[in-house]
Amino acid sequence: MTKISRIAPDALKSRIMGAEEAASLIHDGAVVGMSGFTGSGYPKAVPLALAGHIEAQHAAGNPFRVKVWSGASTGPELDGALAKADGIDFRLPYNSDPVARQKINAGEMNYFDMHLSQVAPMAWQGFFGPLDTAVVEISGFTPEGGLIPSSSVGNNKTWLDRAEKIILEVNRWQSDALHGMHDIYYGTALPPDRKPIPLVNPDDRIGQPHFDVDPDKIVAIVETDTPDRNAPFAEPDAIAEAIAGHLLDFLRHEVRVGRLPAALLPLQSGVGNVTNAVLSGLLDSPFENMTAFTEVIQDGMLDLLDAGKLRMASATAFSLSPEAAERLNADAHRYSDKLILRPQEISNHPELVRRLGCVAMNGLIEADIYGNVNSTHVMGARIQNGIGGSGDFARNAYISIFMTPSTAKGGDISAIVPMASHVDHISQDVQVIVTEQGLADLRGLAPKQRASLIIENCAHPDYRDALHDYVARARHSAFGQHAPNILSEALSWHQRYVETGSMK
Ligand code: COA
Repeated sequence: MTKISRIAPDALKSRIMGAEEAASLIHDGAVVGMSGFTGSGYPKAVPLALAGHIEAQHAAGNPFRVKVWSGASTGPELDGALAKADGIDFRLPYNSDPVARQKINAGEMNYFDMHLSQVAPMAWQGFFGPLDTAVVEISGFTPEGGLIPSSSVGNNKTWLDRAEKIILEVNRWQSDALHGMHDIYYGTALPPDRKPIPLVNPDDRIGQPHFDVDPDKIVAIVETDTPDRNAPFAEPDAIAEAIAGHLLDFLRHEVRVGRLPAALLPLQSGVGNVTNAVLSGLLDSPFENMTAFTEVIQDGMLDLLDAGKLRMASATAFSLSPEAAERLNADAHRYSDKLILRPQEISNHPELVRRLGCVAMNGLIEADIYGNVNSTHVMGARIQNGIGGSGDFARNAYISIFMTPSTAKGGDISAIVPMASHVDHISQDVQVIVTEQGLADLRGLAPKQRASLIIENCAHPDYRDALHDYVARARHSAFGQHAPNILSEALSWHQRYVETGSMK
């Protein structure tokens, strides 16, 4: 690959400006498509300048709020700063910023949480209305004026195509070796013109390494040199290690009985410390030549690549600790033929997840005794992050696995409850549940069989008797005996927590 040029082509040089000037091109009420996915590849200077501008407008008594579309979560300079300035009227999709979360849960910010694979198609379908401005971080330009993506691809292709005007941030901090890692597929279409996506192996390249862009739409180019928001992963604790242990035993068993090949099937690993611990566990596993068809590349995946266990990984973004980001940047050429970053409508595409037969591993907030999973809402009302790509993968995976510690908040909350207070993944999309207590393989089981297994294998001992007791009473008094519930009591554990601070 040719070296990345960080300097805009001559024809665009007149559009280089400071972040404040670029931000002033965004008006009150604007719909802004931002780059960014799990803290990587998001614009860092323009949103911060926009937040300053909004604060000044508010101080002068003028209303000013924007609608933000992104790939997934971003960083404190974007969601954090804009939310703090009370500058976001509406946001989609996935958010994990604590300030934005607080605004959403206080009812001061509208949040549309949706499947990540559907954002770009729905934007094209016109369901969200027009897009005024794209603010997209890139790592540089090709000699022909193509845009070399940054450390995430997300929805950037769609924002660049759909926006009326484009503001670019060219971030010198991003590694040179990113050039060539991306695979930007331009073959998507709307029904009735959709064609099969020609990807049959996780390492297939079906697109091109850069974005095409209409140069006339570029109104500003801002130069930056700023690291991504890379949060450290916690060292796996005893609970995470126990979850990883149960899961690895299960995968070994599936290989032994011939339901999984020795190299497994393409792995999808969700966000969070527990899923990262599972990846670390795979380092000592017997599996070789593994692949990943997933959403984000975490530290654990780089370790697996280094150890030669993982052959390659396909994703839409990096989600690395600061140390791993430095390692990648320093030595990126070594990884460049093993990593592929795609638009999120491809990395998470249900057609591809089903075809490849991914092994999906995601976190959960709570599961009920029948195997319905809540990934998003605490006590049925407060959003934690969002559904992210978990639904894209869980419904279409070869095996859909969910994992969690069996309790939260020091033991005051049971992750296994009589009835989930919100459902993101219906029981049909949940095949395996794992906690540090054990693993429940729910495939082919009826609800009552599921309940016994989940309570016995996954619930914390402190809550096990109460769950058994609930089921026993429901078997006498429920309206039906397929999935017996006592409706007046099913959510009483949550109500107790809200009132007393404990489910006990
Ligand atoms: N009730 C209340 N709070 C709970 C809870 C429960 N049943 N379960 C977890 N939490 C809280 C934890 O206490 C913690 O809060 P804190 O940050 O205040 O300490 C927070 O949720 C995160 O939980 P943690 O146990 O650290 O797990 P995690 O980092 O693995 O995250 C999810 C778990 C479910 C929040 C996370 O996996 C997620 O957002 N999933 C949905 C999106 C997704 O799956 N994306 C990947 C698809 S590719």
